[in-house]
Amino acid sequence: MSKFIIQGPAKLSGEIEVRGAKNAALKIIPAAILSREKITINNLPDIEDVNRALELMEDLGAEVSRQNGRCEIQVSELSKNELNPGLANKFRASIMFAAPLLARAGEVKFPHPGGCVLGAATRPIDLFLEGFEAMGAEIKEKEDYYHIKAKKLKGCEYFFTTVTVTGTEAMIMAAVLAEGDTVLKNCAMEPEIPALAEYLNRQGARVIGAGTPTIKIEGVKEIKAGQFNIIPDRIETGTFAILAAATKSEIKITNCEPKHIESLLNIFKKQGVKFETGDDWLKISAAKSIKPYNIKTREYPGFPTDLQSPYTVLATQANGSSLVHETIYERRLLFTDMLAQMGADIIMCDPHRVVINGPTKLYGRKLTSPDLRAGITMIIAALIAEGQTEIDNIYQIDRGYEDIDGRLRKLGADIRREGTLL
Ligand code: EPU
Repeated sequence: MSKFIIQGPAKLSGEIEVRGAKNAALKIIPAAILSREKITINNLPDIEDVNRALELMEDLGAEVSRQNGRCEIQVSELSKNELNPGLANKFRASIMFAAPLLARAGEVKFPHPGGCVLGAATRPIDLFLEGFEAMGAEIKEKEDYYHIKAKKLKGCEYFFTTVTVTGTEAMIMAAVLAEGDTVLKNCAMEPEIPALAEYLNRQGARVIGAGTPTIKIEGVKEIKAGQFNIIPDRIETGTFAILAAATKSEIKITNCEPKHIESLLNIFKKQGVKFETGDDWLKISAAKSIKPYNIKTREYPGFPTDLQSPYTVLATQANGSSLVHETIYERRLLFTDMLAQMGADIIMCDPHRVVINGPTKLYGRKLTSPDLRAGITMIIAALIAEGQTEIDNIYQIDRGYEDIDGRLRKLGADIRREGTLL
């Protein structure tokens, strides 16, 4: 097991480049199953979830070659239609393999996907199953896996009772090669969805309306070879922006899309955090004082749940009380216990709402990263805190942030990694 040792408090400065979006990469990799031809992916982040996804592809018979941020994948023939449970259990996005496998092989077997445990008990996939069923698939739930069959998926009209990002993407992938037209309503609108649709359209698909609540997919016979440039990770962008504000540092964030984090930047304006933006960069000025502000997580373009935990640590440095209301997941505020151990004044009102009274000094502690986004939040808190913080279980952080320690050291952070990777 490896851990991070961080010495705070830190004053950071300089530039940090944003990597390709994890949550775009984890969809485009399985989308390669929809074609027999070669797909080239550029700007692929070197993170553990991507490594697991590529291992799953190889296990299914794909040829994969990867160098730096470029990766080529070709699935001329599938060697099986069953996801390796050891790999699929490691990350939630393994669910993204179900639709393309079903569309191509007519059948798929997979275990309940792993990843961050954020839902009530385990994150549900009922809407995926319901959607596939609406397209004519037969679903069998066994003790430890799902078995789904559909010789040929059929176009349908489907309304998502809950807005779901991966559910929307899965149904797009299921529908591109289906017989007839599919209309999806109440879809998620996160930027990764139009990015996936644009790629599929360039390769022969007909997906209309991605990025809006209603998406129409006209089934086609084949998806051709293609290139996909992964969009910058908007959650990394927002995380680095919050890191700058919370440590009162001046940081330029490059290779990003500031318009994808408009909700955060709008809140910065209300908090008195100054910034400048260009087409692909964002510069946060060293904040003098930070005003409190209440947030509520929402589907895009609202405030992203994936930035809720970094924002909560920022609120510990604001002058006054902020309410953080998490509306997407049940268990995403549990990490606030660790901030409290570090000295934060946090009151949990109910499982969805906390009040943070700031500003408070934070102190270095021994912590364990419970999940990806709480893990990066521990790093931000450690950089604010007096003294040394140790963060265990950093596989969770490596799942989504490439070489985070190396990149933060370039900004002047005193962070080092100890121990072996797994
Ligand atoms: N939901 C259901 N049934 C389903 C699917 C989802 O009830 O079949 C519920 C979830 O329990 C949740 C809500 O719908 O309450 C929204 O979840 P959503 O399905 O949108 O989340 P997701 O697609 O599983 C993606 C990202 C998450 C991100 C959310 C929200 C990927 C691989 N994951 O998850 O990213 O938090 O959208 O934006 O794209 C992360 O990167 O740390 C992460 C958790």
